[in-house]
Amino acid sequence: MLPFQQAVENEFSEVNKLIVSQLHSDVGLVENIGHYIIDAGGKRLRPVVVLLSALANGYQGVDHLKMAAVIEFIHTATLLHDDVVDVASLRRGRQTANAQWGNAPSVLVGDFLYSRAFQMLVEIEHMPIMSVMANATNVISEGEVQQMANAGNPDISEEIYRQVIYRKTAKLFEAAAQVGACLAGKNQDAMIAYGKHLGLAFQIADDVLDYQGDIEVTGKNIGSDLAEGKMTLPLIFARDNAGSEHADLIRKAIAGKTADDFGTILQVVNTSGGLSYSRQQAAKEVELAKHALVGMPDGEYKHVLLDLAEFSISRVS
Ligand code: IPE
Ligand code: IPE
Ligand code: MG
Ligand code: MG
Repeated sequence: MLPFQQAVENEFSEVNKLIVSQLHSDVGLVENIGHYIIDAGGKRLRPVVVLLSALANGYQGVDHLKMAAVIEFIHTATLLHDDVVDVASLRRGRQTANAQWGNAPSVLVGDFLYSRAFQMLVEIEHMPIMSVMANATNVISEGEVQQMANAGNPDISEEIYRQVIYRKTAKLFEAAAQVGACLAGKNQDAMIAYGKHLGLAFQIADDVLDYQGDIEVTGKNIGSDLAEGKMTLPLIFARDNAGSEHADLIRKAIAGKTADDFGTILQVVNTSGGLSYSRQQAAKEVELAKHALVGMPDGEYKHVLLDLAEFSISRVS
Protein backbone atom coordinates (compact mmCIF):
# COMPACT_ATOMS: atom_id res chain seq x y z
CA MET A 1 0.00 0.00 0.00
CA LEU A 2 1.31 3.45 -0.94
CA PRO A 3 1.96 5.81 2.01
CA PHE A 4 -0.80 8.25 1.12
CA GLN A 5 -3.27 5.37 0.85
CA GLN A 6 -2.22 4.17 4.27
CA ALA A 7 -3.03 7.55 5.80
CA VAL A 8 -6.69 6.99 4.93
CA GLU A 9 -6.59 3.21 5.10
CA ASN A 10 -10.13 2.58 6.36
CA GLU A 11 -11.80 5.04 4.01
CA PHE A 12 -9.64 3.81 1.14
CA SER A 13 -10.77 0.25 1.64
CA GLU A 14 -14.42 1.40 1.79
CA VAL A 15 -13.95 3.25 -1.48
CA ASN A 16 -12.46 0.18 -3.14
CA LYS A 17 -15.42 -1.92 -2.03
CA LEU A 18 -17.79 0.70 -3.36
CA ILE A 19 -15.98 0.81 -6.69
CA VAL A 20 -16.30 -2.96 -7.10
CA SER A 21 -19.95 -3.09 -6.02
CA GLN A 22 -20.88 -0.22 -8.34
CA LEU A 23 -19.50 -2.09 -11.35
CA HIS A 24 -22.49 -4.37 -11.35
CA SER A 25 -24.42 -4.80 -14.57
CA ASP A 26 -26.73 -7.42 -16.04
CA VAL A 27 -24.69 -7.24 -19.20
CA GLY A 28 -21.78 -9.63 -18.80
CA LEU A 29 -19.35 -7.81 -21.07
CA VAL A 30 -19.77 -4.58 -19.12
CA GLU A 31 -18.72 -6.32 -15.92
CA ASN A 32 -15.90 -8.24 -17.61
CA ILE A 33 -14.26 -5.18 -19.09
CA GLY A 34 -15.05 -3.04 -16.07
CA HIS A 35 -13.40 -5.55 -13.74
CA TYR A 36 -10.52 -6.09 -16.12
CA ILE A 37 -9.39 -2.47 -15.88
CA ILE A 38 -10.51 -1.74 -12.30
CA ASP A 39 -9.00 -4.91 -10.82
CA ALA A 40 -5.66 -4.09 -12.46
CA GLY A 41 -5.40 -1.44 -9.77
CA GLY A 42 -3.81 1.83 -10.61
CA LYS A 43 -2.54 4.23 -8.02
CA ARG A 44 -5.98 5.56 -7.04
CA LEU A 45 -4.44 9.01 -6.63
CA ARG A 46 -7.55 11.00 -7.41
CA PRO A 47 -9.90 9.25 -4.97
CA VAL A 48 -7.27 9.66 -2.26
CA VAL A 49 -7.18 13.39 -3.02
CA VAL A 50 -10.96 13.52 -2.48
CA LEU A 51 -10.64 11.73 0.87
CA LEU A 52 -7.71 13.83 2.08
CA SER A 53 -9.28 17.09 1.00
CA ALA A 54 -12.55 16.28 2.77
CA LEU A 55 -10.77 15.15 5.94
CA ALA A 56 -8.28 18.01 5.96
CA ASN A 57 -11.25 20.35 5.78
CA GLY A 58 -12.94 18.67 8.73
CA TYR A 59 -15.68 16.83 6.86
CA GLN A 60 -17.67 14.50 9.14
CA GLY A 61 -20.10 12.77 6.77
CA VAL A 62 -19.81 9.75 4.46
CA ASP A 63 -20.38 11.22 1.00
CA HIS A 64 -16.63 11.65 0.45
CA LEU A 65 -16.46 7.87 0.00
CA LYS A 66 -18.97 7.92 -2.83
CA MET A 67 -17.35 11.00 -4.37
CA ALA A 68 -13.98 9.26 -4.35
CA ALA A 69 -15.51 6.33 -6.26
CA VAL A 70 -17.22 8.73 -8.68
CA ILE A 71 -13.89 10.40 -9.47
CA GLU A 72 -12.13 7.06 -10.01
CA PHE A 73 -14.91 5.91 -12.36
CA ILE A 74 -14.59 9.08 -14.40
CA HIS A 75 -10.81 8.67 -14.47
CA THR A 76 -11.16 5.04 -15.58
CA ALA A 77 -13.63 5.99 -18.28
CA THR A 78 -11.15 8.54 -19.65
CA LEU A 79 -8.44 5.84 -19.68
CA LEU A 80 -10.63 3.45 -21.69
CA HIS A 81 -11.34 6.17 -24.22
CA ASP A 82 -7.80 7.55 -24.18
CA ASP A 83 -6.28 4.17 -24.97
CA VAL A 84 -8.53 3.82 -28.00
CA VAL A 85 -7.59 7.29 -29.25
CA ASP A 86 -3.89 6.70 -28.53
CA VAL A 87 -3.98 3.15 -29.95
CA ALA A 88 -2.25 2.10 -26.73
CA SER A 89 -1.51 -1.56 -26.06
CA LEU A 90 -0.40 -1.58 -22.41
CA ARG A 91 -2.12 -0.14 -19.33
CA ARG A 92 -1.61 -0.95 -15.66
CA GLY A 93 0.85 -3.66 -16.61
CA ARG A 94 -1.54 -5.57 -18.85
CA GLN A 95 -2.95 -5.38 -22.33
CA THR A 96 -5.30 -2.43 -22.77
CA ALA A 97 -9.00 -3.20 -23.01
CA ASN A 98 -8.92 -2.10 -26.64
CA ALA A 99 -6.11 -4.53 -27.37
CA GLN A 100 -8.00 -7.30 -25.61
CA TRP A 101 -11.59 -6.66 -26.78
CA GLY A 102 -11.36 -4.02 -29.49
CA ASN A 103 -12.23 -0.35 -29.72
CA ALA A 104 -16.02 -0.50 -29.71
CA PRO A 105 -16.38 -2.40 -26.41
CA SER A 106 -13.82 -0.09 -24.78
CA VAL A 107 -15.64 3.04 -25.84
CA LEU A 108 -19.02 1.69 -24.75
CA VAL A 109 -17.81 0.48 -21.36
CA GLY A 110 -16.16 3.87 -20.93
CA ASP A 111 -19.62 5.35 -21.46
CA PHE A 112 -21.02 2.95 -18.88
CA LEU A 113 -18.46 4.12 -16.31
CA TYR A 114 -19.14 7.78 -17.04
CA SER A 115 -22.87 7.35 -16.66
CA ARG A 116 -22.56 5.14 -13.56
CA ALA A 117 -20.47 7.93 -12.03
CA PHE A 118 -23.26 10.39 -12.73
CA GLN A 119 -25.90 8.03 -11.29
CA MET A 120 -23.90 7.94 -8.06
CA LEU A 121 -23.43 11.68 -8.15
CA VAL A 122 -27.17 12.22 -8.34
CA GLU A 123 -27.59 10.11 -5.20
CA ILE A 124 -25.42 12.59 -3.31
CA GLU A 125 -27.96 15.33 -4.10
CA HIS A 126 -25.47 18.17 -3.92
CA MET A 127 -25.98 20.63 -6.76
CA PRO A 128 -22.67 22.58 -6.42
CA ILE A 129 -20.74 19.30 -6.57
CA MET A 130 -22.76 18.11 -9.53
CA SER A 131 -21.82 21.32 -11.24
CA VAL A 132 -18.10 20.84 -10.49
CA MET A 133 -18.21 17.32 -11.91
CA ALA A 134 -20.25 18.20 -14.99
CA ASN A 135 -17.80 21.01 -15.80
CA ALA A 136 -14.72 18.91 -15.14
CA THR A 137 -15.94 16.07 -17.34
CA ASN A 138 -16.74 18.50 -20.11
CA VAL A 139 -13.33 20.18 -19.92
CA ILE A 140 -11.51 16.81 -19.94
CA SER A 141 -13.17 15.87 -23.20
CA GLU A 142 -12.23 19.24 -24.67
CA GLY A 143 -8.63 18.58 -23.65
CA GLU A 144 -8.59 15.18 -25.28
CA VAL A 145 -10.12 16.56 -28.48
CA GLN A 146 -7.69 19.50 -28.49
CA GLN A 147 -4.79 17.09 -28.10
CA MET A 148 -6.08 14.89 -30.89
CA ALA A 149 -6.49 17.91 -33.16
CA ASN A 150 -2.89 18.88 -32.44
CA ALA A 151 -1.46 15.41 -33.07
CA GLY A 152 1.09 15.47 -35.84
CA ASN A 153 1.69 19.21 -35.42
CA PRO A 154 5.35 19.81 -34.52
CA ASP A 155 4.89 23.53 -33.89
CA ILE A 156 2.85 23.32 -30.69
CA SER A 157 3.95 25.94 -28.15
CA GLU A 158 4.59 25.34 -24.48
CA GLU A 159 1.53 27.47 -23.79
CA ILE A 160 -0.77 25.25 -25.85
CA TYR A 161 0.80 22.18 -24.27
CA ARG A 162 -0.04 23.56 -20.82
CA GLN A 163 -3.59 24.30 -21.88
CA VAL A 164 -4.04 20.72 -23.07
CA ILE A 165 -2.61 19.10 -19.95
CA TYR A 166 -4.63 21.40 -17.70
CA ARG A 167 -7.79 20.32 -19.45
CA LYS A 168 -7.16 16.62 -19.97
CA THR A 169 -5.52 15.86 -16.62
CA ALA A 170 -5.26 18.68 -14.09
CA LYS A 171 -8.96 19.50 -14.23
CA LEU A 172 -9.92 16.18 -12.65
CA PHE A 173 -7.35 16.58 -9.88
CA GLU A 174 -8.71 20.07 -9.34
CA ALA A 175 -12.26 18.73 -9.11
CA ALA A 176 -11.16 15.95 -6.74
CA ALA A 177 -9.55 18.46 -4.40
CA GLN A 178 -12.40 20.93 -4.71
CA VAL A 179 -15.23 18.54 -3.86
CA GLY A 180 -13.56 17.60 -0.58
CA ALA A 181 -13.68 21.22 0.59
CA CYS A 182 -17.12 21.67 -0.95
CA LEU A 183 -18.55 18.70 0.99
CA ALA A 184 -17.06 20.15 4.17
CA GLY A 185 -18.67 23.50 3.43
CA LYS A 186 -15.30 25.25 3.48
CA ASN A 187 -13.72 27.78 1.15
CA GLN A 188 -12.53 25.89 -1.93
CA ASP A 189 -9.88 28.23 -3.35
CA ALA A 190 -6.86 26.61 -1.69
CA MET A 191 -7.93 23.10 -2.68
CA ILE A 192 -8.68 24.19 -6.25
CA ALA A 193 -5.18 25.64 -6.62
CA TYR A 194 -3.65 22.60 -4.95
CA GLY A 195 -5.43 20.17 -7.27
CA LYS A 196 -4.63 22.15 -10.38
CA HIS A 197 -0.89 22.33 -9.71
CA LEU A 198 -0.77 18.73 -8.53
CA GLY A 199 -2.40 17.65 -11.78
CA LEU A 200 -0.03 19.72 -13.90
CA ALA A 201 2.97 18.28 -12.06
CA PHE A 202 1.59 14.79 -12.49
CA GLN A 203 1.04 15.06 -16.24
CA ILE A 204 4.43 16.68 -16.89
CA ALA A 205 5.99 13.80 -14.95
CA ASP A 206 3.93 11.31 -16.98
CA ASP A 207 5.24 12.92 -20.15
CA VAL A 208 8.82 12.58 -18.89
CA LEU A 209 8.11 8.92 -18.11
CA ASP A 210 7.05 8.38 -21.71
CA TYR A 211 10.74 8.99 -22.56
CA GLN A 212 12.64 7.67 -19.61
CA GLY A 213 10.15 5.43 -17.80
CA ASP A 214 10.55 1.85 -16.78
CA ILE A 215 7.77 -0.22 -18.30
CA GLU A 216 7.89 -2.51 -15.25
CA VAL A 217 7.12 0.45 -13.00
CA THR A 218 4.67 2.46 -15.10
CA GLY A 219 2.87 -0.49 -16.65
CA LYS A 220 2.73 1.49 -19.90
CA ASN A 221 4.85 1.50 -23.04
CA ILE A 222 7.50 4.15 -23.56
CA GLY A 223 7.85 6.15 -26.76
CA SER A 224 4.11 6.16 -27.32
CA ASP A 225 3.76 9.97 -27.32
CA LEU A 226 6.24 10.24 -30.17
CA ALA A 227 4.49 7.47 -32.09
CA GLU A 228 1.19 9.33 -31.66
CA GLY A 229 2.67 12.62 -32.90
CA LYS A 230 2.23 14.24 -29.47
CA MET A 231 4.42 17.27 -28.77
CA THR A 232 4.97 17.01 -25.02
CA LEU A 233 7.16 19.27 -22.89
CA PRO A 234 10.46 17.32 -23.13
CA LEU A 235 10.17 17.36 -26.91
CA ILE A 236 9.05 21.00 -27.15
CA PHE A 237 12.12 22.04 -25.20
CA ALA A 238 14.39 19.84 -27.31
CA ARG A 239 12.90 21.21 -30.55
CA ASP A 240 13.66 24.78 -29.45
CA ASN A 241 17.10 24.16 -27.97
CA ALA A 242 18.79 21.29 -29.78
CA GLY A 243 19.95 22.92 -33.01
CA SER A 244 18.32 22.85 -36.42
CA GLU A 245 19.35 19.40 -37.53
CA HIS A 246 17.89 17.75 -34.46
CA ALA A 247 14.87 20.03 -34.50
CA ASP A 248 14.17 18.83 -38.05
CA LEU A 249 14.43 15.22 -36.96
CA ILE A 250 11.87 15.89 -34.20
CA ARG A 251 9.55 17.70 -36.59
CA LYS A 252 9.72 14.84 -39.07
CA ALA A 253 8.93 12.23 -36.42
CA ILE A 254 5.96 14.20 -35.07
CA ALA A 255 4.54 15.01 -38.49
CA GLY A 256 4.95 11.38 -39.56
CA LYS A 257 3.68 10.03 -36.19
CA THR A 258 6.51 7.55 -36.01
CA ALA A 259 8.81 6.36 -33.26
CA ASP A 260 11.31 4.91 -35.76
CA ASP A 261 13.95 7.38 -34.55
CA PHE A 262 13.04 7.05 -30.88
CA GLY A 263 16.59 6.10 -29.85
CA THR A 264 18.17 9.18 -31.44
CA ILE A 265 15.38 11.47 -30.32
CA LEU A 266 15.61 10.18 -26.76
CA GLN A 267 19.28 11.13 -26.81
CA VAL A 268 18.46 14.58 -28.15
CA VAL A 269 15.72 15.09 -25.57
CA ASN A 270 18.23 14.16 -22.92
CA THR A 271 21.29 16.10 -24.06
CA SER A 272 19.33 19.23 -25.03
CA GLY A 273 18.07 19.41 -21.45
CA GLY A 274 14.47 18.61 -22.39
CA LEU A 275 14.08 16.03 -19.66
CA SER A 276 15.73 18.08 -16.95
CA TYR A 277 13.77 21.19 -17.95
CA SER A 278 10.53 19.18 -17.72
CA ARG A 279 11.52 17.75 -14.34
CA GLN A 280 12.17 21.31 -13.15
CA GLN A 281 8.80 22.48 -14.41
CA ALA A 282 7.06 19.58 -12.69
CA ALA A 283 8.91 20.38 -9.47
CA LYS A 284 7.80 24.00 -9.80
CA GLU A 285 4.18 22.87 -10.00
CA VAL A 286 4.69 20.75 -6.89
CA GLU A 287 5.93 23.82 -5.04
CA LEU A 288 2.88 25.77 -6.20
CA ALA A 289 0.59 22.96 -5.06
CA LYS A 290 2.21 22.94 -1.64
CA HIS A 291 2.17 26.72 -1.45
CA ALA A 292 -1.59 26.69 -2.05
CA LEU A 293 -2.02 25.06 1.36
CA VAL A 294 -0.03 27.58 3.44
CA GLY A 295 -3.13 29.20 4.90
CA MET A 296 -4.70 25.89 5.86
CA PRO A 297 -4.65 24.89 9.53
CA ASP A 298 -1.91 22.38 10.30
CA GLY A 299 -2.87 18.77 10.70
CA GLU A 300 -2.19 15.18 9.76
CA TYR A 301 -4.20 15.22 6.53
CA LYS A 302 -2.67 18.45 5.35
CA HIS A 303 0.73 16.85 5.73
CA VAL A 304 -0.30 13.87 3.67
CA LEU A 305 -1.54 16.25 0.96
CA LEU A 306 1.91 17.88 0.98
CA ASP A 307 3.58 14.46 0.75
CA LEU A 308 1.25 13.43 -2.04
CA ALA A 309 2.37 16.47 -4.04
CA GLU A 310 5.97 15.27 -3.71
CA PHE A 311 4.96 11.73 -4.61
CA SER A 312 3.40 12.91 -7.87
CA ILE A 313 6.87 13.51 -9.36
CA SER A 314 8.83 10.94 -7.38
CA ARG A 315 9.11 8.59 -10.35
CA VAL A 316 11.01 11.19 -12.36
CA SER A 317 13.08 12.90 -9.66
C1 IPE B 1 -2.90 8.02 -16.15
O1 IPE B 1 -3.16 8.37 -14.83
C2 IPE B 1 -3.40 9.10 -17.04
C3 IPE B 1 -2.69 10.36 -16.87
C4 IPE B 1 -3.29 11.43 -16.53
C5 IPE B 1 -1.25 10.42 -17.11
P1 IPE B 1 -2.58 7.51 -13.61
O2 IPE B 1 -1.12 7.36 -13.77
O3 IPE B 1 -3.06 8.12 -12.35
O4 IPE B 1 -3.27 6.12 -13.86
P2 IPE B 1 -3.55 4.92 -12.84
O5 IPE B 1 -4.96 5.10 -12.39
O6 IPE B 1 -2.58 5.00 -11.70
O7 IPE B 1 -3.40 3.69 -13.67
C1 IPE C 1 -4.07 10.94 -20.34
O1 IPE C 1 -3.01 11.46 -21.05
C2 IPE C 1 -5.15 11.92 -20.08
C3 IPE C 1 -6.46 11.29 -19.91
C4 IPE C 1 -6.64 10.02 -19.76
C5 IPE C 1 -7.62 12.15 -19.93
P1 IPE C 1 -1.95 10.42 -21.64
O2 IPE C 1 -2.40 9.88 -22.94
O3 IPE C 1 -0.59 11.00 -21.55
O4 IPE C 1 -2.02 9.28 -20.54
P2 IPE C 1 -1.38 7.85 -20.67
O5 IPE C 1 0.09 8.08 -20.82
O6 IPE C 1 -2.02 7.20 -21.83
O7 IPE C 1 -1.71 7.22 -19.34
MG1 MG D 1 -2.72 7.95 -23.56
MG1 MG E 1 1.23 9.61 -21.15
